[in-house]
Amino acid sequence: MEAAGRWRRGAALSAALLALSALALLLLPPPPGSALPPGLLEELRQRRRDLRRLAAGGAAAEGGLRCGDVRRAAGTAPVLGSGFTKVVVRAALAGGGAVALKSVHGAGREVRQCEQRYGEPAGCRRLAAYKLLKEVTLLRRLRHPGIVQLHGQCYDSGGEPEAGVTAVLELGAPLEMIQLLQTPWEERFKICLGLVELLFYLAHSPLGSIVLLDFQPRQFVMVDGNLKVTDMDDASTEELSCEEDNDCTLDFPTKSFPLQCSSAGKCEGINEKRNLFNAYRYFFTYLLPHSAPPALQPFLSDILNATGNLRYGINETLRAFEKVLHLYKSGLYLQKRPLLLKEAYKCWPSYSHLGCLLSVHSPEEAAAICSSQPQCQSFIITQQRTWTGRPLASFQSSPTDLIPDTTAVAYIKRSASLGRRL
Ligand SMILES: Nc1ncnc2c1ncn2[C@@H]1O[C@H](COP(=O)(O)OP(=O)(O)O)[C@@H](O)[C@H]1O
Ligand SMILES: [Mg+2]
Repeated sequence: MEAAGRWRRGAALSAALLALSALALLLLPPPPGSALPPGLLEELRQRRRDLRRLAAGGAAAEGGLRCGDVRRAAGTAPVLGSGFTKVVVRAALAGGGAVALKSVHGAGREVRQCEQRYGEPAGCRRLAAYKLLKEVTLLRRLRHPGIVQLHGQCYDSGGEPEAGVTAVLELGAPLEMIQLLQTPWEERFKICLGLVELLFYLAHSPLGSIVLLDFQPRQFVMVDGNLKVTDMDDASTEELSCEEDNDCTLDFPTKSFPLQCSSAGKCEGINEKRNLFNAYRYFFTYLLPHSAPPALQPFLSDILNATGNLRYGINETLRAFEKVLHLYKSGLYLQKRPLLLKEAYKCWPSYSHLGCLLSVHSPEEAAAICSSQPQCQSFIITQQRTWTGRPLASFQSSPTDLIPDTTAVAYIKRSASLGRRL
């Protein structure tokens, strides 16, 4: 409690409090590492160089948070997730809000493997901390709804400053692919669209075209139904150098793509293409096609084909997604409604596990769904709307279940035709 209170005070004063920032750390003399093994020293130097390059030209370092309190809060907090390098815990703020605290995972594979190799716990922690510092630097320079928001960072005052870095991040929920597969198509489409918008931003970022080298669902979290990338330490702004086209093969376990070597000696668009194919293989193939509105399926198949063989770049992909969004939001896809009517109605995936709650474009669409389903006797168009602005319709098996109120419009099936009653 006490720690949380102090943390709130720390957060409020964050701009004023003096703490070391990532940039300030770079100006420190090299760590007392002359006794470290040469291999480890060289790895430390490389990470330092990488970090300095990313930080160069960035905005002036903002004041960090004083983080003794944050780290103390982190000590007992529930773990949200951990990876190779970092561990993330949830911390409650005294004001009722919550954040995610990310720090080096001392028991993680990165630190342990380094220790086995070099036998230097402190040096190995520092090596891992450079990755988190790199992430903090990137998060500070990049702003996008598809990138987890950095509230601030703080550094332990005692011991090795670099090793004691903690990033204070917007709280998300680790991605559960199995769960996502059971959500309505509209929500899955939103996740894919969000990812495409993120990749568009990364391809045209202020730092150049950024590739996420370790692109996997576990590097993303969900915040209010939106997908956000959280793991940025394996991001790179460098495009592969080449002398000839043969140097530019983009390899995946199941597929390779020959790319061209530009006159500037870079493999053209390799970062953008790597991200896009990863989005295809980890997200689009699972989330986009199944139970999509039938009339949109040809457009979705085209997106899957064109990203699966990299015929589309990110610009074309975004355009194709926006077209699907437009068709869906405007209801234009219903011009092919006879197809829908013939479709066997399944009340899955419903927005509510208690009943059959589906998003519709209009009462006509709901009527079509209802008449195609023998159990359906009535439906209500509710005031609730999904993120695209479509109302939710609640389908019911008996007309007597209707509890009309002033905010809902109810429809009851009358033999073959539907009559509006309220
Ligand atoms: N902001 C966040 N909110 C909730 N969970 C998070 C957040 N950021 C990361 N996580 C979880 O912590 C895990 C580890 O974080 P990550 O940055 O991927 O570390 P690593 O570099 O070790 O893979 C992620 O896989 C994710 O499940
Ligand atoms: Mg990760």
